Amino acid sequence: MDYTVMMPAAGSGQRMGAGYNKLFLQLNHKPIIIRTLLVFEEDPACTGIILAVKPDERNEIQSMLDQFGISKIQTIVDGGTERQYSVAACIEAHAENGIVLVHDAARPFLKKSVIANLVQKATKYGAAIAAVQAKDTMKIVTDGVVEETVDREKLWIVQTPQAFRYDVLKEASESANRAGFLGTDEAMLVERLGHPVHIVESTYENVKMTTQEDLAFGEIILNRQQEDIL
Ligand code: C5P
Repeated sequence: MDYTVMMPAAGSGQRMGAGYNKLFLQLNHKPIIIRTLLVFEEDPACTGIILAVKPDERNEIQSMLDQFGISKIQTIVDGGTERQYSVAACIEAHAENGIVLVHDAARPFLKKSVIANLVQKATKYGAAIAAVQAKDTMKIVTDGVVEETVDREKLWIVQTPQAFRYDVLKEASESANRAGFLGTDEAMLVERLGHPVHIVESTYENVKMTTQEDLAFGEIILNRQQEDIL
C-alpha cells in the first residue's frame, strides 16, 4: 500500500549542543537526516517525501540530497517555529488523499515492518502510531513527591512514524491551529477531535537523536545492523 511521508526537519537541536542542526551530524559517515530519508528512499511503497526545513538551511540540505541521491523529495517547505507548524506546512503542500506518515528526521532507525503495519492500520482506522511499552515503573510526581504509581501495562512510549488518512490529519491540524492548541505529536491533535488512534508496536531502537548519548547509542545500533547484513 502506497504512502507519502511528511518529514519535519526544521528544528534547532539545542539539546544536542552541536551549535548547528543536529540532523547534519554524521552517523558512520552519513548525516542523520540522510539516514532517515534513505529508509523511505529504499521502500517501494513510499511514493514521495515532503520535507520541512529552516529557510536558511535549504541550500545545505539540497546539496546533501543531491550528494546522497535522494530522489523522492516532492516538495521542500519552510518549517515553523514549532514542530506542529512545520508539519502543518507539509500538510498544506499536499493535496492528495491517501495515507501519510509523519516522521521525525531525527529517527533514522525505524523498521520497514513497522511502516507496513502503520500503513495497514491507518488505512483501516484512519490513525495509527508507532510506540513501545514502558519498561520502567512510572509515577506521577508533584513538587518532588509521588502522587501515584501508574499501571505500567497501560503505558506506551510514543514515537514516529504516525500514520493517518490525509483528510483526518488535515482536519485535526487545521482545527488545532485555529484554536491555538499546541500538541506534542500529531496523534494528540487527532485525539482532540475524538478520533481513535491505534497503536503499532515498534522497536526500542527507533530512538530520536536528541542528546550526545543518543549519538553513541545510534552508532551501536548501526554497527549491529551492519553485522546482521554481513
Ligand atoms: O526537537 P525535536 O527533536 O523534538 O524535533 C523532532 C523533529 O521535528 C526533528 O526532526 C526536528 O528537526 C523537527 N522540528 C521541526 N520544526 C520545529 C521543531 C522541530 O521541523 N520548529
